[in-house]
Formats: sequence, structure tokens, C-alpha cells
Amino acid sequence: MTQPTSFPKNKIKILLLENVHPVAIEAFRAEGFQVEAVKGAVSEDELAERVRDVHVLGIRSKTQVTTRVLDEARRMLAVGAFCIGTNQVALGHANRAGVPVFNAPFSNTRSVAELVLAEVVILSRHLGDRSREVHEGRWRKAAVGSHEVRGHTIGIVGYGHIGSQVGVLAEAFGMRVVFFDIAAKLPMGNNRALARLEDVLELADFVTLHVPETAQTRNMIGPDELARMKPGACLLNASRGTVVQIDALADAIRGGHVGGAAVDVYPDEPKSNSDGFASPLCNLPNVILTPHIGGSTEEAQEAIGHEVSAALIKYVNSGATTGAVNFPQIDPPLAKGAHRILNVHHNVPGVLRDINRTVSDHNANIRAQVLSTDPDIGYLIMDLDQDVSQDVKRGIAALPTSIKTRILF
Ligand code: NAI
Repeated sequence: MTQPTSFPKNKIKILLLENVHPVAIEAFRAEGFQVEAVKGAVSEDELAERVRDVHVLGIRSKTQVTTRVLDEARRMLAVGAFCIGTNQVALGHANRAGVPVFNAPFSNTRSVAELVLAEVVILSRHLGDRSREVHEGRWRKAAVGSHEVRGHTIGIVGYGHIGSQVGVLAEAFGMRVVFFDIAAKLPMGNNRALARLEDVLELADFVTLHVPETAQTRNMIGPDELARMKPGACLLNASRGTVVQIDALADAIRGGHVGGAAVDVYPDEPKSNSDGFASPLCNLPNVILTPHIGGSTEEAQEAIGHEVSAALIKYVNSGATTGAVNFPQIDPPLAKGAHRILNVHHNVPGVLRDINRTVSDHNANIRAQVLSTDPDIGYLIMDLDQDVSQDVKRGIAALPTSIKTRILF
């Protein structure tokens, strides 16, 4: 007799911490999942207690998902980090426990790009200084040294999601756009790729950095690079604090060679809003300093809510791991009328042989099978004829190499 196969959706428990955006709560409820949403972060002890019967945990940057928390979360299917970074999650441990972690790396692209364009205008007109003077009761009306941005050149270093958006917006402002990227990139509009970082530094009136933090980008902009910039050109960094040597930038501004800077990210950033902040860049002329808010808008929060909840729902419903930061990524189309078995296993030789033997022992017919591995685990999605799928699932789950096994549909 065919047994019921799907785990009822109303038994799937979602715990959302740290005020995750309401669009995510709505999306989970619309799927029929049980949702508990909590405003703040909780302690490790409390979380370890609360995750025991939770299938999906949603967090932002404050909640630490430690190895202990994951060990207590026996039913955990996936973690959603409703933010960009995932350092707060013990990613390797989650991987080995068969728990994919999803985030939203590109939901705030537009927010960063808009901030950068605004800052280009602000630097060009020395607005930071003028505004401060007026606030302090001083009236210094002058045109000298103030420029339109139209016709000036912006040089983008790192032409990925954010860099290319900056290029589009800058062109709409009438700027010339050049860029340098280590990968071949299709230029947007009339944006122009240059072969070397030095070419960008020498040509641009505004150099804006949009590279990731890598060994290659660490300290990428130092005294030599700053000296190569056009006299009076401005530097913008909303990428990662380690990309720019801050002391060298402060010297170049004090010396007058660099005409201004907009900095959103720092090598050492305060851990919380109650911590103080100090930098060699403080109180220098035509320098805009912001507290790592490039991607911090309500629109970006909403986009994150949509993006992460969609990835989690897709994973729960189909096993797709596209976008997971710690997991082999597969998303095979569903074979019609089949039952789907998901299996996470230790990546050791012979696993697929044992799984397929279990399938053939039950005379089951495999409609489709997709496997992807990383150094520690393998992730298998298999679509089977329905009549024996529960027995096959039990057989696979009992293999000593299996970490997590689930059946869908
Ligand atoms: P992305 O991965 O889409 O693009 C990065 C680009 O940099 C890629 O095209 C890559 O090929 C290129 N690249 C890598 N190494 C390079 C090198 N040595 N020289 C030149 N190009 C290089 O990343 P996305 O989303 O555009 O983000 C860029 C940066 O912005 C990241 O560092 C990210 O952490 C940061 N960011 C900052 C935010 C803020 O609040 N200030 C918010 C969001 C992202």
C-alpha cells in the first residue's frame, strides 16, 4: 500500500529572530508553515533550548549559531541568515550536520550604488564641510573648487554587482565611466574596461572601490596607488575596510594630493552602536565618514526578507540548495509524478554504490539522480517511482554513511 509521503507543511516550524522583515513571515505563513517571530537576538543557552523542535532558523547578524546550538537542533533542515555576512554561523559544523545556510549577498546592491553616487556629488561640492560650517553659524559662499560631476571620470575598481550598478547610475549623471576588474566583464552602456588598476587610478577624478576582501585586495590602495591618482581626485571606499591603508589615505589628504574621500568601511569597526570610534581620517577636510551603512536601507531589508525566505521555502519544498554558502549546490527539475529523496552523507568512497543497491533491492526505478559533493559531504537528490519510495528512504537513512535523509511529495 502507498504510504503518505510528504511531511505536512503545517508541522514545519520556523523560528525567526532579530526582527526579520515581515515579508519573510508572510511568505512562510502563505506556505502553511508554523512561524514564531522574536524581536531580538537570544543567548546561546536560550537558543540551544529553543531550536530542539525547529526545522528552519532565521537570524540576522547578532545571533550566534554555534556548534552547540546546531548539535541541539536535531530537526534542523536549514538556517537563513537574513543579512549579508554568515560569520555568526558555525558553517563547517552546519555542513557536516547536513544543514545548508542561506543568505542574501546581493539584496543591497542598489543601496550601496546610490550612496556612492550621492557621495561623488557631495565630494565634488565639498558639501560635508559646507554643511558643518553653516551648522556652526559660519557662512562661506564660494564657487572655487566646486564642480559639476557631469563630464568627469569615475573609475570603478571591481565591476561586480555593485560596481556595474555604480557605472549605470554614473552614466545617467553624465559621467565618463572606466573600470578595472580581474575577471572579464561585459561593460554596461558606454562604460569602458581598462587593462590595469594603474590605468584607472591615473585617469579617474573619482576612484570607487567595489572589490571583495581577498588576499589580493588587502591593502590594495596604499601610498603608491594614492600617488598615482590625479592631483585632487577623490577616493571612495564602501567595499571592505582592509582594502585601503588608512594612514596612507590620511597622509595623502593632509598633503593635498587626494582631494577628498568617502569611507564607509574600516579595518577596525566598532562591534556595536554603543562603542566609540576613532580613525586617522576623523576631522580631515572633504572627508565623509559613514558607519558601514552602504547597504543599510529599508528597501534592502525587504529585499533580503524576500530573497532568503524564497531560498528557504524552495529548499524545504524541493531540496534546491542554490545560493547556500556552505553546501554543494544542486537544483534538478522534478521528474513528474515521482517522489523525491534527499540524502546528505559523509563523502567517502562507495556511498552511491550502497544507495543504488538499496534502490535496486526494492526494485525501485530511479527517474533522476543528481549528486554534488564537497570535501566533507555529498548531497544527493533522487526522484523515484512512488510505490516503494518510503521503504527506499528508510533503507538509505539506515546506511552508516547517511547524515540526513528526507522524502518529499
Ligand atoms: P561582487 O562579487 O558582485 O563583485 C566584486 C567584483 O570584484 C567581481 O567582479 C570580482 O571579479 C572583482 N574583483 C575581485 N578581486 C579583484 C581585484 N583584485 N581587482 C579588481 N577586481 C577584483 O561583489 P559586490 O556585491 O559588488 O560587493 C563588492 C564589495 O562591496 C564587497 O567587498 C562587499 O563586502 C561590499 N559591500 C559593502 C556594503 C556596505 O554596506 N558598505 C554592502 C554590500 C557589499
